[in-house]
Amino acid sequence: MPEAFFPERIVVTGGCGFVGSNFVRWVVREHPEVGVTVLDKLTYVGNRENIADLLGRRVELLVGDICDEELLDRVIPCHDAVVHFVAESHNDRSIADPDPFVQTNAVGTYRLLEACRRHDVRLHHVSTDEVYGDLALDDPARITEESPYRPSSPYASTKASSDMLVRAWSRTYGLRATISNCSNNYGPYQHVEKFILRQVTNVLCGRRPRLYGDGRNVRDWIHVDDHSSAVWEILTRGRLGETYLIGANGERDNVTVLRDILRAMGRPEDDFDWVRDRPGHDRRYAIDASKLRRELGWEPRHADFAKGLAATIEWYRRNEAWWRPAKEATEARYAELGL
Ligand code: NAD
Ligand code: DAU
Repeated sequence: MPEAFFPERIVVTGGCGFVGSNFVRWVVREHPEVGVTVLDKLTYVGNRENIADLLGRRVELLVGDICDEELLDRVIPCHDAVVHFVAESHNDRSIADPDPFVQTNAVGTYRLLEACRRHDVRLHHVSTDEVYGDLALDDPARITEESPYRPSSPYASTKASSDMLVRAWSRTYGLRATISNCSNNYGPYQHVEKFILRQVTNVLCGRRPRLYGDGRNVRDWIHVDDHSSAVWEILTRGRLGETYLIGANGERDNVTVLRDILRAMGRPEDDFDWVRDRPGHDRRYAIDASKLRRELGWEPRHADFAKGLAATIEWYRRNEAWWRPAKEATEARYAELGL
């Protein structure tokens, strides 16, 4: 077990997005002594409101692009670590227009790595289980840190590229870095383009939910707060140069999740539309997080999916002012794609 590392000031890239802003909230709650600088470009998905109530309380926001070298040279030196959440993160968008994915996920991570190398700052790189590709529905196997990289979508392949860059910078330049690959998150502050929140907000708007393909694709759901606690453990106690998978044994197929949502919201179970499938749609994700549990003693605290889903639905009911401005444009874009 390496000596624990306790950063006093961290940069959180992408801290106005879904997972990044929940991580910032988690750090403020669990480690209020730590100062946080959020670096975020505020793209269509980044929202200042996600952390507005924390600003000034040891959290500051710098609006900028991770591809901007000069900005990185100004921000990074006065910090002990960078936790890197920034990404273009939505598969359907990556299929329609891959360019920003290559720029932000691959080139942006390269620029950040170079800045961390110039200033000798510790990096934790947040990645996804999608880099490992999919499993068949009847495959008893789950993904481990030793599984081969087999990304399917432009999103997954640019995340895989970023992981490879981090591995190379760690080995060749001795950059103090770790990587985590997590499964599908759910919780508050998730953009309405993503599966669970699209369906919940569709029901709240009186629209019918939309299910891709045959609805049997399996995702391995984890509450976003459990992702945050795992990232903190890896940042502070993980072995440098290592990859840790994060998952909470939350495998469910999409049609089951959609029916859970409809039941929880008092709608008939078949009150949804089947739509065309996503090209290259990964069939099943399933994470084996034994290494994280064994080495760092991490355990999820929100393993009851029904309870987590009910709380998430309630959050969206109460925070219509937060999601409403993005809803019409999101659905207009989906309509153009036939989804
Ligand atoms: P998100 O799309 O909600 O947020 C991304 C954030 O990055 C936004 O605030 C956006 O404004 C910002 N951003 C985008 N391009 C930028 C740039 N060039 N410079 C600065 N800021 C920029 O994404 P998310 O769902 O919160 O995912 C965050 C990270 O977690 C990603 O790296 C993703 O791969 C990983 N991840 C997400 C999930 C999930 O289920 N959401 C699961 C596993 C891993
Ligand atoms: O596995 C981790 C990944 O999970 C993250 O790296 C990504 O950033 C995150 O977006 C998520 O990717 P998915 O493609 O799995 O998530 P999405 O919410 O887009 O879709 C989840 C599943 O639901 C997928 O099988 C497609 C399906 N789906 C999605 C939408 C938006 C539908 O059936 N209907 C929909 O309307």
